[in-house]
Amino acid sequence: MTIERVGVVGAGQMGNGIAHVFSLAGYEVVMTDVSAEALDKAVALIERNLDRQVAKGAATEDEKASAMGRISTTPTLTDLGSCDLIIEAATEREAVKTAIFEELVPHLAPHTILTSNTSSISITRLASRTDRPEKFMGFHFMNPVPVMQLVELIRGIATDEETFRACFEVVERLGKTAATSEDFPAFIVNRILMPMINEAVYTLYEGVGSVSSIDTSLKLGANHPMGPLELADFIGLDTCLAIMNVLHDGLADTKYRPCPLLTKYVEAGWLGRKTKRGFYDYR
Ligand code: CAA
Repeated sequence: MTIERVGVVGAGQMGNGIAHVFSLAGYEVVMTDVSAEALDKAVALIERNLDRQVAKGAATEDEKASAMGRISTTPTLTDLGSCDLIIEAATEREAVKTAIFEELVPHLAPHTILTSNTSSISITRLASRTDRPEKFMGFHFMNPVPVMQLVELIRGIATDEETFRACFEVVERLGKTAATSEDFPAFIVNRILMPMINEAVYTLYEGVGSVSSIDTSLKLGANHPMGPLELADFIGLDTCLAIMNVLHDGLADTKYRPCPLLTKYVEAGWLGRKTKRGFYDYR
């Protein structure tokens, strides 16, 4: 099947990066969000991030202009009905995602593939709330999307081979690398990454080391580009906590217990970079 027109639901951190890479790879992109302001901000951010790529020689001015010309926005979710592929990148809350699918599904063309950029929620369960579980799968980008090479592809229990192949080919056309995961809580990347971040928070909570000694240890001692606490602030502490809860509930093992300090920061509204306060102070 041919995929040319791609719908992106959500214009936040992940949604704008996803729209960016699809338009740069030549796809027509329609981006939607409930907030018109978020859509305007996302388009401005895509332009700035494309400028960074032009400055580095990773894209030309012409490629940037063509990419910007291929992006359109709409506040009306059902305008995405004619897309060949839809990537839902809304807030990481199951009720929000399910409500989006329920509103969208009656307007979709029969051939449309529906995917979610969820970082941890069951693909099989999300698919079961649509009319097309065989054409539904997980399409999980990493942040920042224009920079990170990986896309995790997650098959739900009913996903058919044609859908999987079509998504795999899309990842290749984006110039990224696909890794396939079975549909278990938090898939592969977050199954491994989040317990490491949670352990870093425990290391702080138990007074083993300071924020800077924990981050310096992993940066210089294990060659990580960011320390785990800096990375948690970058991802968002609410997202980290939500993923730990999915692991804890879904695998019923105390080794996934979220650190009480992580919970406390989220309760305080200290969510990391996006609220200008997390393990670091960005004010
Ligand atoms: N768009 C386009 N280009 C961007 C960009 C963006 N949004 N953000 C950064 N860049 C580019 C820069 O222009 C720069 O390009 P060159 O290498 O060509 O010079 C490059 O990326 C590096 O950026 P910076 O020089 O500004 O900063 P840096 O060297 O400190 O790198 C980083 C920044 C790429 C974010 C790096 O710190 C890093 O890799 N951090 C780890 C990120 C990570 O682990 N992400 C995964 C999180 S887990 C996840 O996403 C899954 C989930 O579900 C939670």
